[in-house]
Amino acid sequence: MPFDLSTLETPAAIVDLDRVEANLHRMAGYSREHGLDWRPHTKTHKTPMLGRMQMEAGAVGLTVATVREGETMADVCDDILLAYPPLGSKKLERVSALAERVRLTVALDSERALEGVARTGRSAGSQIGILIEVDVGMRRVGVESPQEAVRLAAAARDAEGVEYRGILFYPGHIRGRVESQSEEIAVVSERLGQLLQALGDVDLHPEVVSGGSTPTVWRSHEFAGITEVRPGTNIFNDRTTVVVGACDWSECAYSVLATVVSTAVGGQAVVDAGSKALAREELRGEGGGYGALLDRPEVVVRGVSEEHGILDLSETTWRPEVGDRVRIVPNHVCVSVNLQEYLWTVRGDQPESVLEVAARGRVTVA
Ligand SMILES: Cc1ncc(COP(=O)(O)O)c(C=O)c1O
Repeated sequence: MPFDLSTLETPAAIVDLDRVEANLHRMAGYSREHGLDWRPHTKTHKTPMLGRMQMEAGAVGLTVATVREGETMADVCDDILLAYPPLGSKKLERVSALAERVRLTVALDSERALEGVARTGRSAGSQIGILIEVDVGMRRVGVESPQEAVRLAAAARDAEGVEYRGILFYPGHIRGRVESQSEEIAVVSERLGQLLQALGDVDLHPEVVSGGSTPTVWRSHEFAGITEVRPGTNIFNDRTTVVVGACDWSECAYSVLATVVSTAVGGQAVVDAGSKALAREELRGEGGGYGALLDRPEVVVRGVSEEHGILDLSETTWRPEVGDRVRIVPNHVCVSVNLQEYLWTVRGDQPESVLEVAARGRVTVA
């Protein structure tokens, strides 16, 4: 659908495809250089065409967090990692159907989840791949000790309907500046080293060691034994990624187009993008606020209510007028994308196409 950027109704999510392509190219080059498989996490964009672009740029497959994302990405990719333990009979029915469409791998950390997936694999007549999720410091999911990993890996190897493929970790607790991550990466590597040793000792050496996040992305090769990286955010990047030093501001490919609706209160301008367009995600790191202007990063969204964003004008001489339009880079792009129905793609100032954020939501009620 052709559209005119100057009249597009706001708020609207804008994606610059030139920047997306540059980000994908950089990531593909990094993975090649370090001999790592690249399996980007599609929770960031939830959009089949962007998944296809990732595959065309050299990804070996795609990662998803929800079954809905898996069902959507199955249209563009036949090798999917569900990096989330599926539980409950309804969800497992959908996992079964997905396993009939694609080479599916599931990450999990409990026998209960393993039993369900194995049952599903048997009913689908397929071998669902299993990665044992290990906690490396985030303390969210993942078994804590090498012994537990060995026990679960052995159970996966022995169960029918599944195939043990390796381990998965997510270093989501490493959120500091790229140059300050060495110590934390070393700690994770030590844990991984012990784990690999324990698995190797009992003939369960993992074929896949899947890791990666956007803050650590350019240092992924430093994690001991890693074979695969799963960054999500770095297809678009965001204000947090800039703050940690994992990208430049010019590599931010996603912004929310908004209109100035009020300048009545001094020292600020109010736009029509609030927490329901940008999300209310705190900035991890210096700067505060909920986003900043793409072409004036010194102008920060100081506050948000649902449909209002407050631009702080204290660091600029720029004085917008009611009706002016601005583009805002949010702190955390994945949550902002999830609030959008469509992504309006551009190349520079040139409009391109409209993409539906098709994998939003959880269930499809047909
Ligand atoms: C399991 C898992 N893998 C990979 C990612 C991608 O992380 P990022 O968005 O920092 O690239 C996430 C993000 O939440 C995740 O939960």
